[in-house]
Amino acid sequence: MILSSIVAASLNNGIGKNNQLPWHLPADLKFFKTTTMGRPVVMGRKTFQSIGRTLPGRKNVVITRDHSFNENKEFNIEVVPSIETAISNLKDEEEVFIIGGGEIFQQSMNLVDTIYLTVVHTTIDADVFFPEIDTDLFKKVWEEAHEADEKNNFAYTFQKFVRK
Ligand SMILES: NC(=O)c1ccc[n+]([C@@H]2O[C@H](COP(=O)([O-])OP(=O)(O)OC[C@H]3O[C@@H](n4cnc5c(N)ncnc54)[C@H](OP(=O)(O)O)[C@@H]3O)[C@@H](O)[C@H]2O)c1
Repeated sequence: MILSSIVAASLNNGIGKNNQLPWHLPADLKFFKTTTMGRPVVMGRKTFQSIGRTLPGRKNVVITRDHSFNENKEFNIEVVPSIETAISNLKDEEEVFIIGGGEIFQQSMNLVDTIYLTVVHTTIDADVFFPEIDTDLFKKVWEEAHEADEKNNFAYTFQKFVRK
């Protein structure tokens, strides 16, 4: 199984503010959708609540220490008590995506094989950050730069890193 993180981060590594994404970048949402479609997505409880719904076409796995979370089966999600449980339950999948947020990205940094990073070309006053990518451990294998346009307020660059 390939374990991948997928994240959009500002130039100062900001990824969230007040439990929301700090920008509206439809092109990045489209990239996220295309890249993760059909694959399981693993996220922290705060990110799930920030999205507010199950992402369609993907098994949604939510990590929480709250054993009663989704007890009434309100959402079509799998609830697990740790990242390790999530990974072990999904070990037969081809690729699994860690989709955030800050706590879960941080704790899975030493586990992931691949990182899909969208650099958002702005500096933001964030309250959640993505860890610095250690270029001794990961090499950039692809990037694609885009200018801002009428729909996307900031320039953005898609990048892919793989563990060396
Ligand atoms: N820019 C991006 O690409 C991107 C992507 C995703 C999210 N975000 C942003 O990131 C922010 C949310 O990130 P966050 O760091 O605050 O929260 P988070 O990582 O989404 O979720 C944190 C929660 O996950 C659970 N958790 C964390 N570690 C655990 C462990 N080892 N074992 C069991 N449960 C564990 C806990 O849930 P319980 O408290 O329920 O126990 C914890 O409160 C939001 O602003 C969101 O918009 C940005």
